[in-house]
Amino acid sequence: MSSSPAPLFRAKCVAVGSALPEKRLTNDDLEKMVETNSDWILSRTGIRERRIAEPGTPLSDLATPAAQQCLERAGVDASELDGIIIATITGDYVMPTTANVVQHKLGAHKAFAFDMLNACNGFVAAISTGASFIESGRAKKVLVLGGDIMSSIIDYTDRNTCILFGDGCGAVLLEAGEPDGPGIIDFELHSDGGNADLLSVPSSGSACPASVEAIENHLIYLTQSGKQVFSHAVRRMCEVAGSMLERNNLNNDDIDLLVPHQANQRIIEPVARRLGLPMDKVVVNIDRVANTTDGTIPLAIADAFADGQIADGTRLMLVAFGGGFSWGACYLTWGR
Ligand code: COA
Repeated sequence: MSSSPAPLFRAKCVAVGSALPEKRLTNDDLEKMVETNSDWILSRTGIRERRIAEPGTPLSDLATPAAQQCLERAGVDASELDGIIIATITGDYVMPTTANVVQHKLGAHKAFAFDMLNACNGFVAAISTGASFIESGRAKKVLVLGGDIMSSIIDYTDRNTCILFGDGCGAVLLEAGEPDGPGIIDFELHSDGGNADLLSVPSSGSACPASVEAIENHLIYLTQSGKQVFSHAVRRMCEVAGSMLERNNLNNDDIDLLVPHQANQRIIEPVARRLGLPMDKVVVNIDRVANTTDGTIPLAIADAFADGQIADGTRLMLVAFGGGFSWGACYLTWGR
């Protein structure tokens, strides 16, 4: 990805909101469902529990309250929004997009609305897209959400995957600001379709439409080669975060908080080490919410905000990796 011309505006990140299902699925609960044990899960992933929605819960049931909380904190009415972008791989329907559903529920009448599918890199891709609308002057206020109901595509008889994922959704409001003020300073996105088969959901797209056979063969569920995904994730997240620092002439002192995609505590730690950051500068909530795919980064921002780790002027590095493969990073200064 090449550098862009100087933007007309900078996209300020002015507020965050989040929503999680009530129900907790603990490692002990999983012991009763598949052949695993609580200590194995904790030591191999850092996960203690995850939140799981009731079957049939649409993503919009989490996205709408996350959006409302975000708008309320920002003091912005939904009618002021120019756009809504939702990063997800488990939208309410194949069509219409969940962003359309949320637009209607919020009453955001003048906002464009679409979903983005970029797996676990979806939120970084979506916030970069939202920022681009603002930087070019085409929109003043864009609500960017990331979330998934991963329980709808997880096989709870497969111990390789069912321990890793949870449900949740977060939202960040972007507003146009001065080009040299706080906001999204830079982002970088990458992809490598050559490794697509290492992490995928084989059925319900046009290549393998939903069918009785697809269900019987468990093709409607997420499948992955865990070890290979792991090593690509560490490598690519380190690379892209390093590249963001380099091309902006920054060093690790310029990062107040690293907000990484929460796929595995053992992926997060080497990324922090490579950037020379102590773990108290890294947001980790994987122990409580697991991997919520598109939800991880906005939920981590929401947790850090609630803990008082994020205030106006806090400099954040977001970094993610996911299926595709796709990966990316975003460097920003929080607040108005
Ligand atoms: N409970 C108990 N044992 C399990 C298990 C489970 N849930 N899952 C696998 N095992 C076993 C394996 O069968 C294997 O046994 P063996 O040595 O007798 O063959 C052993 O534990 C080690 O398995 P392995 O796959 O090597 O473990 P790992 O250290 O690579 O950890 C993951 C597995 C999935 C946690 C890890 O590879 C990972 O996090 N990968 C990345 C996944 C990811 O992030 N995906 C989304 C990316 S956005």
